[in-house]
Amino acid sequence: MTGSTGYLGSALLWHLKDTEYKVKITSRRRPQDWHQLDWVYSDLVSGEGLEEAVKDVNVIIHAATSPMKNAKKVEIDGLENLLSKSKHIQHFIYPSIVGIEEIPWKYYQLKVEAEELLSKGTVPYTIARATQFHGFVENLLLSKSLFNRYVIPRKWKMQSVDVHEFATHLIDLVHKDPQGRVEDYGGPEIMTLREMAELKIDTKKEKKIVFDVSLPGKLSKAFEGGKNTNLHNQKGKITFEQFLRNK
Ligand SMILES: NC(=O)c1ccc[n+]([C@@H]2O[C@H](COP(=O)([O-])OP(=O)(O)OC[C@H]3O[C@@H](n4cnc5c(N)ncnc54)[C@H](OP(=O)(O)O)[C@@H]3O)[C@@H](O)[C@H]2O)c1
Repeated sequence: MTGSTGYLGSALLWHLKDTEYKVKITSRRRPQDWHQLDWVYSDLVSGEGLEEAVKDVNVIIHAATSPMKNAKKVEIDGLENLLSKSKHIQHFIYPSIVGIEEIPWKYYQLKVEAEELLSKGTVPYTIARATQFHGFVENLLLSKSLFNRYVIPRKWKMQSVDVHEFATHLIDLVHKDPQGRVEDYGGPEIMTLREMAELKIDTKKEKKIVFDVSLPGKLSKAFEGGKNTNLHNQKGKITFEQFLRNK
């Protein structure tokens, strides 16, 4: 598994430690809690350590990414580097994101490109798209307040999903045959960011208010239109409220 220090990677690691699989994990930093799994240093961009990381491996779950910094170098060049060392791999599992071709954000376009790269390559693969994780939405949009206000884009919709449920879904794919692209993995409900912010204020008994703004542009329109959601695939069971209460 790549990306062992990441948000998804940490959840994967937590569940993989209890499976019968012999697990090797890799990233540039060593995870704080790696449960004594076999960790290998590797850098997708420089290529250092990749050969060692994929040695004696049958299946890869590729959870490494870098949305903000060096996004193309990691998502595309890094994937190419990894695939070039992965000729022997029987199953390459790639987590992706629901609606990426309809949302004009550079990182999402790179994910489309990465999916294409996989589909044109020779390594057998499964692409599993998920909606945004509960923790990601909270962290990015509902963690900082300005003068006790959560400032959020009006009408943006989310169908966030629990990262542990998605991690378990990915691990379930390991013993299956490579399937190309599988059905989207969406959270249990669609909410506006305002509803999510109000829920957080209620649940955590915070003395904050919601201040919503209207953002121009196609990106905002895509999130307002719920392009990042998929009502037909509400696979996750854990709601945003349960996620907040369990934290
Ligand atoms: N976040 C969401 O809401 C969401 C929703 C659906 C799907 N996904 C997908 O799930 C996957 C994981 O996302 P995430 O949110 O867990 O990401 P994340 O928390 O940002 O973790 C990224 C991981 O990538 C590693 N990494 C970054 N640059 C690297 C490099 N040059 N070489 C090797 N490793 C590198 C990082 O480890 P080091 O820095 O230690 O190397 C880290 O472990 C991505 O494919 C993402 O698109 C995310």
